[in-house]
Amino acid sequence: MLKQEEKGCIVNTSSQGGITGFPGQAAYIACKHAIIGLTRTASIDYAAQGIRINAVLPGVILTPMAKDIIKRNPAMEEAMVRDIPKGRLGEPYEIAHAVMWLCSPYATFVDGAAISVDGGFTIH
Ligand SMILES: NC(=O)c1ccc[n+]([C@@H]2O[C@H](COP(=O)([O-])OP(=O)(O)OC[C@H]3O[C@@H](n4cnc5c(N)ncnc54)[C@H](O)[C@@H]3O)[C@@H](O)[C@H]2O)c1
Repeated sequence: MLKQEEKGCIVNTSSQGGITGFPGQAAYIACKHAIIGLTRTASIDYAAQGIRINAVLPGVILTPMAKDIIKRNPAMEEAMVRDIPKGRLGEPYEIAHAVMWLCSPYATFVDGAAISVDGGFTIH
């Protein structure tokens, strides 16, 4: 973007695990926390050049990755849904919509944010 003298918008993918812990997943959780730190720092570094940098924090979303986990352990879906106030898992388009909003003219003052899209999971 800088090379082409363009303004722009970057959206990093963290996770609900970026602001919570999860047993046995230290490396994944550490990476997802780090993505938020990277987002915040980079957003400061590039704000003056007109590049906005934000992060989305998906909850459990029915992508091939999550479907595969559920397929191997069907009881897990019920357990996961129990902790989501919205009462269901998320759909990929619901993350896409958040990303589209962050990149849209409606979010021009949103910078360095970590936006949870998790059906309320991280309210607890
Ligand atoms: N699905 C969830 O419940 C969930 C929850 C929180 C965060 N996330 C995050 O969302 C992101 C996407 O997860 P997903 O559920 O869609 O996973 P997924 O496994 O369903 O899809 C990942 C995609 O990334 C591609 N990919 C993998 N390595 C790549 C590489 N080096 N270069 C280019 N493409 C590559 C794969 O081919 C695949 O299409 C991940 O960062 C994941 O941590 C997912």
